[in-house]
Amino acid sequence: MMYHKTEAEIALMRESALLVGKTIAAVAKEIKPGVTTRQLDAVAEKFIFDSGAVPSFKNYKGYPFATCISVNDAVVHGFPNDMPLKEGDIVSVDVGVFKNGFHGDSAYTFAIGNTAPEVLALLKATKESLYKGIEMAAAGNRVGDIAFAIQDHTEKQKGYGVVRELVGHGLGRKLHEDPQVPNFGKRGTGAKLKEGLTIAIEPMINLGVKDVIYDEDGWTVRTKDRKPSAHYEHNVCIRKNKAEILSSFVEIEKAEKENTALNSSYY
Ligand code: MF3
Ligand code: CO
Repeated sequence: MMYHKTEAEIALMRESALLVGKTIAAVAKEIKPGVTTRQLDAVAEKFIFDSGAVPSFKNYKGYPFATCISVNDAVVHGFPNDMPLKEGDIVSVDVGVFKNGFHGDSAYTFAIGNTAPEVLALLKATKESLYKGIEMAAAGNRVGDIAFAIQDHTEKQKGYGVVRELVGHGLGRKLHEDPQVPNFGKRGTGAKLKEGLTIAIEPMINLGVKDVIYDEDGWTVRTKDRKPSAHYEHNVCIRKNKAEILSSFVEIEKAEKENTALNSSYY
């Protein structure tokens, strides 16, 4: 069942989506070598509650934290933990908030300090692929058009691995609604995009092979070859000739540039 939202509902979704961006920006200010991802999770959780919202992920199907924080070879759904971050790490921060009956859900991958050039290139291409996918999210197109654009920019053009097991999704009163939005596929296939449909587009792209394995915690998804993986996620609303991006990276990118522990030289 796909839910096409009214303008009033879209306005509430925009509010939730923008709050996620502000939350990830608050986290970005605190990232530096020596900080633990558990500390970053606490920053996010406090920010969300202080903003009159609830973290969407906590207790979702038993997930135990407010955020997913996935370091280096962790693709997504990483548990915040007590391991200090270090120079050269990449850190994906994935946040969901529930406010006024609607969810927002975004992710952004940060590089700490002197990260390897090939890893910075992975971040750049993954973020680019997100926007290539968004460009295709216009009424009349199909989910496969988004999927193809992402896969083409990352797998075909750069030889990266596109994760198959996890996909983007419809988003609204529920965190995961129809349709599924894969990051691989054929043009002109899949569900038709109609005005008012709101979806989360979230490429998960591996430097090496596409294959993933699950940690013993039952959640953390890791690359099989232990090479790094990047993840960026926006929420968009399908409009007549384009997508409207409901979330925003503006405050995140400002925090990224201002935090001298972070490397923003890749874009
Ligand atoms: N942003 C992810 C998603 O869209 C994380 C949700 S999984 C959770 O699926 F369990 F942590 F909530
Ligand atoms: Co998502």
